Amino acid sequence: MTEARTPILTPDTAAIAQAAETLRTGGLVAFPTETVYGLGCNATDGEAVARVFAAKDRPRFNPLIVHVQDTDAARNIVIFNDTADRLTEAFWPGALTLVLPRRDDRVSLLVSAGLETLAIRTPDHPVAQALLVESGLPIAAPSANRAGRISPTAAGHVVFSLPGSADGGPTIILDGGPCRVGVESTVVDLSGDAPTLLRPGGVAQEDIEACIGPLAQPSASDDETPKSPGMMDRHYAPELPLRLVATEPRPGEVLLGFGPDAPEGAINLSPSGDLGEAAANLFSMIRALDGPPFTGIAVMAVPDVGLGRAINDRLRRAAQMVDD
Ligand code: TXA
Ligand code: MG
Repeated sequence: MTEARTPILTPDTAAIAQAAETLRTGGLVAFPTETVYGLGCNATDGEAVARVFAAKDRPRFNPLIVHVQDTDAARNIVIFNDTADRLTEAFWPGALTLVLPRRDDRVSLLVSAGLETLAIRTPDHPVAQALLVESGLPIAAPSANRAGRISPTAAGHVVFSLPGSADGGPTIILDGGPCRVGVESTVVDLSGDAPTLLRPGGVAQEDIEACIGPLAQPSASDDETPKSPGMMDRHYAPELPLRLVATEPRPGEVLLGFGPDAPEGAINLSPSGDLGEAAANLFSMIRALDGPPFTGIAVMAVPDVGLGRAINDRLRRAAQMVDD
């Protein structure tokens, strides 16, 4: 294995042009979104999509999210319905992904792992927007981390988590600083009878329900063939065991606090108890604590409301440590 360092570029005009050209010629670009960093490729180029799976070392072809510039671009690719109209008006650009029937086969079938639907969103980040506009492409992008690991919320995390460009990783990484939201987008399936929450994320379930009414949960019978493999347990695993709803650390553990009740001096997701701040800190703090001298991470309780649901969802998965 060569040890080629992938260049991390300040996203000026020249870097955006270079990134767009990389996408057009089948290469991979890691880029910031408001949720987490994505590992992007041209969604219409099946070979480029396959390189994304390879770079992530994904055990199977989980379907990817297609990023588009705006609602018009989305309508070109998927078939909208009334609910999609209302949700995109309220939450796009933003951390909401919609699953809708695909229009045709222009977007590679590998993107959706053979499904007749596509997951699609318009990111609210100037660098992601600039890349979409400059390339003129729909960009398929999972989070820019090795499969099963926590998502990157800073450019440095990407280097840490993915192979270098000479070994199948991204050709360049655009540095947009730390991600504002810090957890992945909420995924809502609008392709079935009832809008269904496939993955809690950066837009709160309550806010979506205020817009379109109650969301259904995936039925238990879907377990055999999960519609959103992102819901499978093994995602987001750190190296160290994670213990939830902790009040104090046991020997060897480091405490990851939340709110004003955390002991003085503890690393704290949000000293004031702000769930948005906690989401933005979640992955980078776990990453920073994930190794010696600690032998475990004890996480204090986070309230299960609003963005707290997405945080707890990620924490529960991280705590499972199920082996593949
Ligand atoms: O915030 C985000 O969503 C980030 C940034 C980069 O946009 N992306 C991200 O992608 O988290 P990824 O690949 O790690 O997660 C995509 C999620 C998975 O849970 C996947 O199963 C689901 O979306 N998904 C994709 N296409 C789907 C489809 N056609 N039907 C159901 N679920 C789908
Ligand atoms: Mg991911």
